[in-house]
Amino acid sequence: MNQQIRVEPLSPVIGAEVFGIDLTGPLTAAIVDTLHSALMTHLVLFFRDQQLSFEQHKQFGKRFGDLHVHPAAPKVAEHPEILVVHADETVQSVAGELWHSDVSCDVEPPMGSILRVEQVPTIGGDTLFASMYAAYESLSDGMQRLLGELTAVHEGRPYYVGRYGGEHLRDGDYPSAEHPAVRTHPVTGRTALYVNELFTTRFKELKRNESDALLSFLLKHCASPEFQCRFRWRSNSVAFWDNRCTQHHAIWDYYPETRHGYRVTVQGDRPYYRPAAAPQD
Ligand code: SIN
Repeated sequence: MNQQIRVEPLSPVIGAEVFGIDLTGPLTAAIVDTLHSALMTHLVLFFRDQQLSFEQHKQFGKRFGDLHVHPAAPKVAEHPEILVVHADETVQSVAGELWHSDVSCDVEPPMGSILRVEQVPTIGGDTLFASMYAAYESLSDGMQRLLGELTAVHEGRPYYVGRYGGEHLRDGDYPSAEHPAVRTHPVTGRTALYVNELFTTRFKELKRNESDALLSFLLKHCASPEFQCRFRWRSNSVAFWDNRCTQHHAIWDYYPETRHGYRVTVQGDRPYYRPAAAPQD
């Protein structure tokens, strides 16, 4: 069964389409291992024609960890772990319209997210994904060293207050957290840049004007096309991304059409940074 799975990369640094798998059925441990290892290599995996029920979607997510509950969004009754991603002619904003890593304002931000889009617009509504390994690795040694000493503040309030209001707060308040500006991926050991436009507000150790200038440079850098792939959704396409080393940007270019989907999010760990050991002489 494992041999039927085929993984085709979409770009040299990020993204792969997976063929020959039905995510609705029970998956063997070997298949889950194959998918996990493909995710570690390609950072985001894409699947077509996956008509998952809420229960099947959650079961698939649970194979990779405990499920995360969103800190501010309204919940689907009976399924608080399902986040509805919806846009139509009545909405003023859509989920994830700026570059971000999901819920990086949580103290333990999600490891991964699994989005199934059910209804797609006639054209448009693609999602961009970017590798934060590639973003980090392309910086100079001096910039890497500076970032290795910085703490970034991530705040949920500035984005969530306008998007969801305060009626559905998981913890009674908006989340906020301090994370290293670069993080060590707990599985691959690689270093990823970990600041984003939606949630990162400043660097703790810098003066405000220094912090604003550095953040502005980094956010532009993260959005460089060579770190990216672009996914064109069809009905029942699924994307599974690793939030620890990627960012994504949902393009809202299809107003007033409707786009509708559901996301299951997998809990992660507290980010940390362990500098790679210097090479021995
Ligand atoms: C999200 O940030 O989870 C939404 C992504 C999308 O709608 O493509």
